[in-house]
Amino acid sequence: MAFPQTRMRRLRASDGLRGLVRETDLRAGSLVLPLFVSAQEHDAAGARAGRSPIATMPGVERLSLSETVAEAHEVARLGIAAVMLFGIPVSKDERGSGAWDEEGVVQLATRAIKQALPQLLVITDVCLCEYTDHGHCGVLREDGAVDNDATLELLARTAVSHARAGADMVAPSDMMDGRVRAIREELDSDGFADTPILSYAAKFASAFYGPFREAAGSTPSFGDRRAYQMDPANGREAVREALLDVDEGADMVMVKPALAYGDLIGEIRRSTRVPLAAYNVSGEYAMVKAGAAAGYIDERAVVLEILTSLRRAGADVIVTYHAKDAARWLAEQS
Ligand code: PBG
Repeated sequence: MAFPQTRMRRLRASDGLRGLVRETDLRAGSLVLPLFVSAQEHDAAGARAGRSPIATMPGVERLSLSETVAEAHEVARLGIAAVMLFGIPVSKDERGSGAWDEEGVVQLATRAIKQALPQLLVITDVCLCEYTDHGHCGVLREDGAVDNDATLELLARTAVSHARAGADMVAPSDMMDGRVRAIREELDSDGFADTPILSYAAKFASAFYGPFREAAGSTPSFGDRRAYQMDPANGREAVREALLDVDEGADMVMVKPALAYGDLIGEIRRSTRVPLAAYNVSGEYAMVKAGAAAGYIDERAVVLEILTSLRRAGADVIVTYHAKDAARWLAEQS
């Protein structure tokens, strides 16, 4: 039956009807807030003690250890599911040894948060790029290429050190082949069989990471990441990546970035049975903040629309720098 018997507007006529037939929900419990934890002291002029602003990401700061714990309290109070930790070490080296240092910045922050807030989930980013002096996500061969197989052991060691510090979940973002299996095996043999892996399965070589690299100081000193991160032109390959990671033992998989990759969130949702995360990355955040600051868009409405659309596309979990604002707005609505 078509018009005039069928009128799509009938079910849009009131708040009550719209609420009744709404297909997608957005709640703070589906959100994860990334935090940049810094081992350095921050005394930048005008900055709050222990916090230094990130110019390209208004509203996001690099946090000292104690401010990280303070932030975690706020996250828990807002009902956000988890924090995802990124470390900014004091020093870097060729192999990225700060990544698996038992006294490293992420390990210290994880212990501190879990001690203060045992119920709040701590997910740790497992990668070497914040810890290598060359800024690549793995160790280099003589010819400058990233050595896949030699990197696996270091990633596994890093994941175990995070689990030992109390991480509830580890999230490898390096895009080496075989890392999920390597991490699973190492976790299992070190007594962490119950620590889940959230794999950045379909992670693209994206210009949307620009502000993050500024924040984490992880821009490669030469070349780019296209020999390990995915080509934005490839969708079938993203599904293969997700299926392989599930096969290797990933408990959850992620698509990253999110906004330009909604098709793949849908595809991977339908092709796998594991929970799916979408990473609403730094450049996506920065565009919204810039548009809002210029008065071109309504920040609150745009953010809630973006996050809802990612849930509709098929994401169970959304990693987003908007998490605190979104949680506040959602609480006001209900
Ligand atoms: C580390 C990592 C990156 C991001 C998350 N983990 C940067 C990169 O791959 O260059 C990007 C996150 C963001 O842009 O918000 N490999």
